[in-house]
Amino acid sequence: MNNITNDNNDNDDIEENGEEQWKELSDACLNCKKCGLCKTRTNIVFGKGSRSAKIMFIGEAPGESEDREGLPFVGRAGKLLDKYMYNFDFNLENVYIANILKCRPPNNRDPDESEQDSCIGYLRLQTKLLKPKIIVCLGRISAMRIIKPDFKITSEHGKWYKKGEIYMTAVYHPSALLRDPAKKADALLDFRSVREKAAELGLL
Ligand code: URA
Repeated sequence: MNNITNDNNDNDDIEENGEEQWKELSDACLNCKKCGLCKTRTNIVFGKGSRSAKIMFIGEAPGESEDREGLPFVGRAGKLLDKYMYNFDFNLENVYIANILKCRPPNNRDPDESEQDSCIGYLRLQTKLLKPKIIVCLGRISAMRIIKPDFKITSEHGKWYKKGEIYMTAVYHPSALLRDPAKKADALLDFRSVREKAAELGLL
C-alpha cells in the first residue's frame, strides 16, 4: 500500500514552496480522470489554509457541501472542526487542510482502496511541497492510510507516531463527534495534545 511518506516517486525536483509546483499539482487534480469519481464530482477539493503552515490536517474525502464549494470541511463536520481549531488557536494561517481523496464519493460512502490508491500521489506531492512537521489525521480512514493500516481509532486516537521527521497523530473525525457527542471529551484532549506538540516544536 502506498502512503504519503513513501519516497519512491519521481518528484525529487520540487523546489521549496514553489508556487509553480502548487499550480501544476492543482491543475493535475482539476484534470484528473484516474478513477470513476471524476464522473460524478462537481468540483475537486484540493485543500485550504497556508502553504507555509507546518501543521497539516488530513480528512477522508469531500462531502456534498465540499463538492459544491470546492473546499474541504465547509459542511456540518467542518463547522464543528472550526470550533476545535478556534479553541486551540489553529486557523487557516497556521494550518493546511486536505483530504485523502480530492473528489466526493457518491452518497458519502467510504472511499474504496482503489480510489485511495489513485489519489494518494496528489496528497503525497502536497505533503512534499508543504513539508509539515505535524500531521493530524481526521478519523479512521485517514489514520489507516497515513499512520498504519491496522490503526484503531477508538484505542489509538491521540497517540503520537513519528515517521521520518514528521510527528503524526489521529483524532476522531468531526462527523463521528456529531454522531456520538460522548467522544467530544477525548477530542478536546487530543486537540490539546496537538497544540502542545506544536508549541514544543516552536510552530505556534
Ligand atoms: N469530511 C472529510 O473527511 N473531509 C471533508 O472535507 C469534509 C467532510
